[in-house]
Amino acid sequence: MMTAVHVSVGLAANPGDVERQPSAVIDRCRAEFDRLSARGRALLGGELAIMGGAMTWVSERNLVSAISNAGGFGVIASGSLSPESLSAEIAAVKSLTTRPFGVNLITLHPRLDELIEVCAEHRVGHVVLAGGLPSVAAMRRIRENGARVLCFASALGFARKLVRMGADAIVIEGSEAGGHIGPVSTGVLAQEILPHLTEIPVFVAGGIGRGEAILAYLEMGAAGVQLGTRFVCARQSIAHPRFKQAFIRASARDAIPSTQLDPRFPVIPVRALANPATERFLARQREIIERFASGELSQKAAQLEIEHFWAGALRRAVIEGDIESGSLMAGQSVGFVTREQTVAEILAELVDQAVGVLALRAGRKHDRCIS
Ligand SMILES: Cc1cc2nc3c(=O)[nH]c(=O)nc-3n(C[C@H](O)[C@H](O)[C@H](O)COP(=O)(O)O)c2cc1C
Repeated sequence: MMTAVHVSVGLAANPGDVERQPSAVIDRCRAEFDRLSARGRALLGGELAIMGGAMTWVSERNLVSAISNAGGFGVIASGSLSPESLSAEIAAVKSLTTRPFGVNLITLHPRLDELIEVCAEHRVGHVVLAGGLPSVAAMRRIRENGARVLCFASALGFARKLVRMGADAIVIEGSEAGGHIGPVSTGVLAQEILPHLTEIPVFVAGGIGRGEAILAYLEMGAAGVQLGTRFVCARQSIAHPRFKQAFIRASARDAIPSTQLDPRFPVIPVRALANPATERFLARQREIIERFASGELSQKAAQLEIEHFWAGALRRAVIEGDIESGSLMAGQSVGFVTREQTVAEILAELVDQAVGVLALRAGRKHDRCIS
């Protein structure tokens, strides 16, 4: 269960103003926050419309169940899982929480159909499809199995198409996010999509580190939000202590997108903390491109070698704690990760910050009325 909201952290600008608000005002503000997120909460079935974005290797049974138990919505990352291990992971989450949670499936997974079947066997209520436009058949099968389908949209036209294909909700993720990213920032995507896509709930992701931002997106029309980076250092996260330390030390400016040296050899943009591997990736690209130029490698072989560089790198960092040669996928919101906290503390802090803004506004309105 989520702990009570104290509204003690509020706005850094003037926390005292928030603390001075009578508890009746705080209660009204919390009710207003709940009203703003009602659509997202109804879709997810939890107390808060805050999804814990699936993170490969990080979003496993412990973190997912902790997020759901604390009132958020945990999502299992299945990017690295076989159907058998996904089945075990879902069963484990179910043994740790009775609350709703979801499963994130990558549309390009070679065994996607089997993964969908596993979700159906376990009666998973929500499936998030990531990694490109899903097939109509996959979406139909998930819905026929009784689950809701959430899909990522990178532009308004794309989102509209997903609505026509039967998506139950959309996630829009801006380039501030950790992991694989698109070219457009969360703020711009939100303005592009939220005012125009009202048929189904839209969740906003990427760069969200504080409750004030959650409130802002809700007020722009979002049904809820999805956060990843902020949960990496949760006490319940199994990420290696060195991985967590790297997050705690980092600032927003350390989370940079991967660099592509040559347009003939595309590099999928991934946002991660800069480390020695970031430098080595540049040197490796240079070397491979030279071998291609000298005729030693075909274009296809060169492309494969470039792509191979990061194979297994996220696991090395998250699980083994190899922060030198592993991939430290992180969003710009990493600057808001300052210590290890329980999931319940993180969620309560985010809600406090959002409700704090509403309370501050209510206080200002009250001051104007009596002056
Ligand atoms: C370490 C890490 C791994 C991630 N892995 C996945 C993944 O497997 N599938 C996916 O859809 N998104 C993945 N993401 C993105 C998150 O689900 C989430 O949308 C994103 O972190 C939100 O932005 P934020 O990091 O600014 O909070 C990953 C993010 C991080 C930081």
